[in-house]
Amino acid sequence: MERQTKVIAIANQKGGVGKTTTVVNLAAALSARRRAVLVIDLDPQAHATLGLGLEKQQGVSMYPVLIGLKDIADVIQPTKWNNLNVIPSEVDLAGAEVELAMREDRLSVMRNALAPVKESGAFDYIVLDCPPSLGLVMTSALAATDSVLIPTQAEYLAMDGLALITSSIEKLRAGVNPSLELNGIVFTMVNSVARLTQDVIAEVRNHFDDKVYETVIPRNVRVSEAPSMGTPVVFLDPRSKGAEAYKAFAWEFMAKNPTRVQVQKSSVPPAPEPKAADESEGISDNPVPSTQQTDAPADA
Ligand SMILES: Nc1ncnc2c1ncn2[C@@H]1O[C@H](COP(=O)(O)OP(=O)(O)OP(=O)(O)O)[C@@H](O)[C@H]1O
Ligand SMILES: [Mg+2]
Repeated sequence: MERQTKVIAIANQKGGVGKTTTVVNLAAALSARRRAVLVIDLDPQAHATLGLGLEKQQGVSMYPVLIGLKDIADVIQPTKWNNLNVIPSEVDLAGAEVELAMREDRLSVMRNALAPVKESGAFDYIVLDCPPSLGLVMTSALAATDSVLIPTQAEYLAMDGLALITSSIEKLRAGVNPSLELNGIVFTMVNSVARLTQDVIAEVRNHFDDKVYETVIPRNVRVSEAPSMGTPVVFLDPRSKGAEAYKAFAWEFMAKNPTRVQVQKSSVPPAPEPKAADESEGISDNPVPSTQQTDAPADA
């Protein structure tokens, strides 16, 4: 099996739609499936960093990499869970907008910065948490990524927001990133009993067809409590509705975005393989952290 690293930007110019929650829990669920994941926090709010249990640390972010002061390998931090790494955010990253504005290579700088880690094949997925704006950080992330995953709430004017970001994707595809794809749309914080919710979901599915993920993330209080514990809800409370939904979403995501490809070395067909260990295990309800288990409470 050969690994093909996929870069996915999780983006929506609208604030508070569940981007960071999706980054943190998708990454956590993928890591529990033994996929090597690197989260890159591109938002100076640093919510993904904190949600993955890391502290902000000056000089440890994409900022010094973007300005050529550090190698990307020097800012990759492990989390307390196996297969789950992060390039944190910190206050300096707020300067990236201004820095990029002054650079002629502003649209290629992020892509060039990511190239060594993408080419190293060390990760299955590199997941970028974008800030809520159509600014230069988000644009440079779209220029650097293979695909864009858009979390959205199922509410009035959702289609307008989706139209805005998909037109940005079109512009980048026509310019610096011709292979940029819409990875998909995932509904977050869904209150499934509301009539409007169902209408919006139907309208978006009608327009974007199979680009809309089947899995829908429900509104769930455990999801909103997890960030303050610095632990993704899929690890904190794996049986909660929110965690179950994110695990199902990660499964669907992996099927649609495979990174392990069979390399045919000879014309002799390979013997049938036993079911791969990492596929059959499922997401453990108690993923083993690389260090001691946290003081997270048992299943509530
Ligand atoms: N499924 C959910 N159920 C309940 N609360 C949720 C859920 N998803 C996200 N939230 C909460 O909603 C708020 C916004 O979510 P989040 O920070 O993920 O959005 P965001 O799009 O990254 O925001 P920003 O645009 O500020 O970066 C957070 O307080 C989060 O805990
Ligand atoms: Mg966010």
